[in-house]
Amino acid sequence: MFWTSAHIDVVMRRLAKKYGPVFTVYVGHKPQVIVADITIANTLFKQKNYSGRPTLFTTQFYTNENMCDIATSDYDERWAALRLIGHKAIVNYSRDEKLAKIISDCVDTTIRKISQKESNKPFKPNTYLFDLTFNIIAKSLFKKSIPLTDSEYDFIKYYCRDINNEFSGSRILLDLSPLFGWLFPQIAQKFSKAIIKFNQFNYEKLKLHYLDSDRGGDDGYESVVQNYKLDTDDDDNDFCDAIIKAKRDGLRDNKQWSKYLTDRNLGLMVSNMFDTGVATMDDSSQWLLLWMTYYPQCQQLMRQEISEIIGDQQPRHSDRYQCHYVMAFIAEMLRYMSLLSFYHKTLETTKIEKYTVPKNTIVLLYLGHVMREDSQWGTDGHSFRPERFIDTDTGHYTGSKCPQLIPYSVGLRKCVAEKLANATLFIICVRLLQSTKRIELADSQGISPDPLISDRRLPRAYKIVIEPNI
Ligand code: HEM
Repeated sequence: MFWTSAHIDVVMRRLAKKYGPVFTVYVGHKPQVIVADITIANTLFKQKNYSGRPTLFTTQFYTNENMCDIATSDYDERWAALRLIGHKAIVNYSRDEKLAKIISDCVDTTIRKISQKESNKPFKPNTYLFDLTFNIIAKSLFKKSIPLTDSEYDFIKYYCRDINNEFSGSRILLDLSPLFGWLFPQIAQKFSKAIIKFNQFNYEKLKLHYLDSDRGGDDGYESVVQNYKLDTDDDDNDFCDAIIKAKRDGLRDNKQWSKYLTDRNLGLMVSNMFDTGVATMDDSSQWLLLWMTYYPQCQQLMRQEISEIIGDQQPRHSDRYQCHYVMAFIAEMLRYMSLLSFYHKTLETTKIEKYTVPKNTIVLLYLGHVMREDSQWGTDGHSFRPERFIDTDTGHYTGSKCPQLIPYSVGLRKCVAEKLANATLFIICVRLLQSTKRIELADSQGISPDPLISDRRLPRAYKIVIEPNI
């Protein structure tokens, strides 16, 4: 079935049609249970038993007996503690207008750069979009320690983007089979070194926040954190401050789980925010721009709404509740983009309908199917139609109440940064349109994901023309 040039989505859809909404594929000798139905997913992934994570080659540098992060840790007490404070920090940070300002400033800088280099001529936007999302996440995490040195900047970029291009698909192969690491030790070594260096970088940047003597004492970490003071008006507060503040509150309330919030684990949480954040926001920004140029009428409707509701003002988070069409457009983009989900693992032997699933089996929710199939979306699951998320009577956005719209997955392991991602996408979209008079598609190979990129879901290369408005 896999010896075909068809995109993995097409293959999965064929399998789901043939075998039903739950089926097993064997990768080498290892079974992976694929779930391609929203109702079943909702039932399974709310259970602890389906919320583990498998141990893979690359995940051992994030989670082992001495340390853990949010994304790769198995379902246990350590993960629950990290997820709790990570979630709290993200929710608080994503409401902060400082985030809206960082994003608007980063978009303005990007458009100025484009205007200097590419104005009125067709260009590929992907490098600019990568830099844009990279800068947003880096500034959100480390506003205090920005600017990064040139070598720091180059290394992080290499880690977040180029290493995967250099060894396309190798990360997946390393994770799927130890044999690959054995056959290609130099690739395995390069990945290991890069992951360790990346995690060390984030750990040190986080520590810089509380080692600053004005922000606490100097008699040990716990006391430094307990006395950690934050001036809420300080423009330089960043996401690391939000994490340390969430830890401080846990310590002050004598929460038993605070013991898991070690420096090392919090540093790994920052690593999660950095690499997952950059990858997902980069992917979604590339789709966002492609869709708004592929369907100029959608772009026009968004421009009109933004001009009526926000005008030239810098967008604020609360504008989301009035910009119904922009919200519907972003929701439809997320539905269609449907990123790959993460592997889950069963913690005990269990059953899905009449099938027995042994302990430690990989289970994957296949979003590319769930979010497109006509069976879940009426008759036009494969059309791009933001209006599906607009109430025809009130004209209001309805995506947040739509149970099938699950770009962030469902259940106990659903994306911890959903609120941050939604807030960021909204401001990026609005500011891109405010800072340009027109964005047109100059050349594209359609609207399908690139079949050659196995570990990300990026569109095929396209070119646009931009007429700046700043
Ligand atoms: C459009 C943007 C995004 C989409 C569509 C998205 C989607 C997802 C999905 C599908 C999962 C897997 C959930 C599962 O295992 O069932 C996930 C997990 C996760 N995401 Fe996101 N994500 C986005 C943005 C972000 C951002 C910006 C960050 C960080 C700043 C982030 C951090 C994470 C983390 C840490 C997890 C692991 C959660 C856990 O294992 O408990 N995501 N995301």
